Amino acid sequence: MTTGNLALIILVVILLQVAIVAVLILFHSQRQYRELVAGSAGTQPIITTSSTKSVSMPPNPAWEGLREFIVQRRIYEDDNRTVCSFYLIPLDGKSLPTFKPGQFLTFKLSIKDVNKDELRSVVRCYSLSDTYRSDHYRISVKRTPAPAGQPDVPPGVASSFLHDHLQEGDRLLVKAPSGHFYLMEEAPLPVVLIAGGIGITPMLSIVNTVLESGINREVWLYYGVSNGAEQIMKKHLQTLAGAHDNFHLHICHSAPSKNDVEGIDYQHAGRVAIPLLRTTLKLMRYQFYVCGPKPMMESLVPGLEEWGVNSDDIYYESFGPASLIKHEKYEPKIIDMQPITVTFSRSQKSIAWDPAADSLLEFTEANNIEVESGCRAGSCGSCQTEVKDGEVVYNQEPDADIEPKHCLLCISIPKNDLVLDA
Ligand SMILES: Cc1cc2nc3c(=O)[nH]c(=O)nc-3n(C[C@H](O)[C@H](O)[C@H](O)COP(=O)(O)OP(=O)(O)OC[C@H]3O[C@@H](n4cnc5c(N)ncnc54)[C@H](O)[C@@H]3O)c2cc1C
Ligand code: FES
Repeated sequence: MTTGNLALIILVVILLQVAIVAVLILFHSQRQYRELVAGSAGTQPIITTSSTKSVSMPPNPAWEGLREFIVQRRIYEDDNRTVCSFYLIPLDGKSLPTFKPGQFLTFKLSIKDVNKDELRSVVRCYSLSDTYRSDHYRISVKRTPAPAGQPDVPPGVASSFLHDHLQEGDRLLVKAPSGHFYLMEEAPLPVVLIAGGIGITPMLSIVNTVLESGINREVWLYYGVSNGAEQIMKKHLQTLAGAHDNFHLHICHSAPSKNDVEGIDYQHAGRVAIPLLRTTLKLMRYQFYVCGPKPMMESLVPGLEEWGVNSDDIYYESFGPASLIKHEKYEPKIIDMQPITVTFSRSQKSIAWDPAADSLLEFTEANNIEVESGCRAGSCGSCQTEVKDGEVVYNQEPDADIEPKHCLLCISIPKNDLVLDA
């Protein structure tokens, strides 16, 4: 055997040993994590925080229907001026009901339709971006431009209206705070907040609420943006991180600009990803809250589960699909399989369900039956419709509260023959 061959064999053996050790460490840390999760789900809590006090809110009933608000103040939050915060005070001057950090408001906007030169009603949801204050609410809205490379497409209707037309002193119609994505205050585990872009808004509410309450709950915030010009509330977050030992701020820039200094403006170059969480988080049980663009959610949520996080400890919210673009417009077509029939009782139409349709809302609109809609994400409740007969299946968990014998058209498909009050 030559010296070269011997050296090669030794190298291969060393590499094999390193690989085996790495696999064993990975397996061990996953097992430890699963044991932590299993253990803390039982009677013996593994993780303890130094305080069991939960963030308490004064009881205050929400309102029915729409309430009028006045824009007290508007302020840009990023260097690019693409995110604008609106401070809203109630017209009646009465104390505002509390909300859970992470919840959103639903707006019914009257916006001029450029094509028809008339006002049209547009419903959109915006997360509350601050902790509860009795005299005002705050939302922070990102301007949604036309999709890249499609200059003929109009930019986002509601966000453009809010940015370009809504001024201080103007009035807005608002539904009470709602939503099922919010901080679990009853089980005060350490929280890991993962935000992509404008998905930071509900996280800001959570961070501000926990830190202002003074409870000693550990909060990790991973906030991914392209660069510093896109980052919102930079100073506010840095000040909080400097003042609170239990707040751990991790800013990730996927494309840092030459003005962004690593270690000052951001902590990590690249996107928020599982390897980053693994290397920066201590081995313990957390609640994970994720809100961001679709690709981020699609990689991170399953990634957390693969890492060994119990799915009960993962909470997430998507701001789409009102802000997601369908690549092909659905058009109804004749189908030759055993049909499910959808009957629209008020319109007196019975139509064979087309499995190519993503949702009953899409199917209904494509067949020229008028129904209300807003977020198209199961959040605002606008498309709620009475089901007179039959059942629907939801393709995601509804966020809006649904009345008995009703369904949300935007996130459901028929399970069997269906009669809708539409
Ligand atoms: C629970 C919840 C909370 C939210 N919180 C926030 C928040 O805190 N801050 C925030 O900024 N947003 C938030 N959103 C998103 C927000 O509700 C809106 O979806 C967002 O502002 C975009 O609305 P828009 O009316 O401006 O855009 P839309 O008019 O809905 O347009 C969306 C996109 O589609 C494109 N488009 C329009 N017409 C066409 C066409 N014919 N063909 C192809 N593309 C087209 C537009 O150019 C735009 O890019 C939240 C959403 C939900 C569901
Ligand atoms: S359109 Fe908002 S819940 Fe369906």
